[in-house]
Amino acid sequence: MDVLVVYLLCSFFLYLIFLIIFPRSSRFNFRKLGLPPGNLGLPFVGESLQLISAYKTGNPEPFIDDRVNRYGSLFTTHVFGEPTVFSADPETNRFVLQNEGKLFESSYPSSISNLLGRHSLLLMKGGLHKRMHSLTMSFANSTIIRDILLDDIDRLVRLNLNSWTDHVFLQDEAKKITFEVTMKQLMSFDPGEWTEKLRKEYLLLIDGFFSLPLPFFFTTYGKAIRARKKVAEALRAMVRERRKESEGEGESNNNKEKKKKDMLEALLGDGEGGFSDEEIVDFLLALLVAGYDTTSTIMTLAVKFLTETPLALAQLKEEHEEIRAKKQSSSAALEWSDYKSMPFTQCVINETLRVANIISGVFRRTTADVNLKGYTIPKGWKVFASFRAVHLDQIHYKEARTFNPWRWQQSNSGSMGGGSTGTGNVFTPFGGGPRLCPGYELARVEISIFLHHLITGFTWVPAEEDKLVFFPTTRTLKHFPIKVQRKHRLA
Ligand code: HEM
Ligand SMILES: *[C@@H]1O[C@H](CO)[C@@H](O)[C@H](O)[C@H]1NC(C)=O
Ligand SMILES: *[C@@H]1O[C@H](CO)[C@@H](O)[C@H](O)[C@H]1NC(C)=O
Repeated sequence: MDVLVVYLLCSFFLYLIFLIIFPRSSRFNFRKLGLPPGNLGLPFVGESLQLISAYKTGNPEPFIDDRVNRYGSLFTTHVFGEPTVFSADPETNRFVLQNEGKLFESSYPSSISNLLGRHSLLLMKGGLHKRMHSLTMSFANSTIIRDILLDDIDRLVRLNLNSWTDHVFLQDEAKKITFEVTMKQLMSFDPGEWTEKLRKEYLLLIDGFFSLPLPFFFTTYGKAIRARKKVAEALRAMVRERRKESEGEGESNNNKEKKKKDMLEALLGDGEGGFSDEEIVDFLLALLVAGYDTTSTIMTLAVKFLTETPLALAQLKEEHEEIRAKKQSSSAALEWSDYKSMPFTQCVINETLRVANIISGVFRRTTADVNLKGYTIPKGWKVFASFRAVHLDQIHYKEARTFNPWRWQQSNSGSMGGGSTGTGNVFTPFGGGPRLCPGYELARVEISIFLHHLITGFTWVPAEEDKLVFFPTTRTLKHFPIKVQRKHRLA
């Protein structure tokens, strides 16, 4: 907090100086520049402080609502160090997503790209991005999940739930599960001391994404940078090991069955000159980042919303008991056909994605002057396409701010059929266009299987009251502590 106070004071003085140097009339004229109306707030900090204080509460919506009411669904603001055009409009958002690589490119501050590494998918551009995006997709598509990953996910979820005592922090357990699943998917690692040690470093790394980027040894960011080094080191050693293994195999015999079919194998075996160790490490590390916090948060929040909505929980329980009833034993593994017979579960997941909006939107930078709804956004400007603003807009969803999984039973877009927009395409929790989340199906499967074993294996009550907050990330303040009662072991 001290840092913020100093920041505020400095900004205030700079603002005074600014007012003296620039007379009022020559200050920012949105209309003349063709930009959407808005307010740039204070110099340097802009409206970031208003945004942060709103997102630290359980109800951040007024930040967007106020501005949409005043200026319309496209407005100009100044957040995180730069003037930014904020879109609360589904058509604009779709346009931004679809024109990735043409009129827009994704844009992260250097503090984040330092943590991700230069060769991560999130930072790649152009032809290389296209190739690597489709490679990633092909490692998380429904065929791979059905034939390979489903078994692992089922086993890892049960393993984790079996270790529970009668009091657990659900958010932490969910994180463990998604980390283990990703390690398995990427490099065929089963949970053990090595993965658990790596995960501890990982937690520090993730914290760094949402901290002030001050690179001192005692700051969160400084610790994250060091954790990144350690994680990269461990991954590099593992990549070298696997290179040696696969070379050895190539000489002796090409026994395909022994070969591991994971992401790492694909990267090592890629033709076209292959990738360096550094490129592979960055790539793997970013995949771990992208799939880990997101999926585990949705798992936790689905349980939280269900706990608060007993009718939905009862209906979900029925769906899963029915699947269990057809199985030989209480611990038989789930199959693809089981996953495919969870329609209400999919409604619950969509509704959780809609209400929680863990990725509240995406930042892009214009690569040319762009015309949007009669405005002109100059080249090089930041645009924020807010999914959250659309998902929680009463125009698109009736009683948009309440958790109501049944709305998805009526239409598979969850929005009001025949409403003002008439398109089902306002729901974009996984983004869209060339950067559509390659993990969208994998995340769904992980969450479904987790819910299945939790609901059929346990009953639970919240151990303490907990609260949802949205800054720096969407999460529950106390990691969602629950008291659980086991019905049977899931061995
Ligand atoms: C509920 C869980 C998840 C949500 C809500 C989510 C959401 C998103 C969104 C909105 C984007 C687009 C970012 C942009 O356009 O700039 C994205 C990208 C990405 N996601 Fe996910 N994601 C989830 C789970 C996963 C999982 C499990 C994986 C692991 C395979 C994953 C891997 C990625 C990657 C690698 C990208 C970058 C794609 C690119 O830039 O081309 N995500 N995700
Ligand atoms: C998934 O990817 C594999 C290659 O890894 C491919 O053979 C398969 O056809 C893909 N399946 C779908 C549904 O796209
Ligand atoms: C959930 O949302 C996805 C879009 O992400 C949509 O394709 C699907 O039909 C929805 N599911 C249900 C049950 O409405």
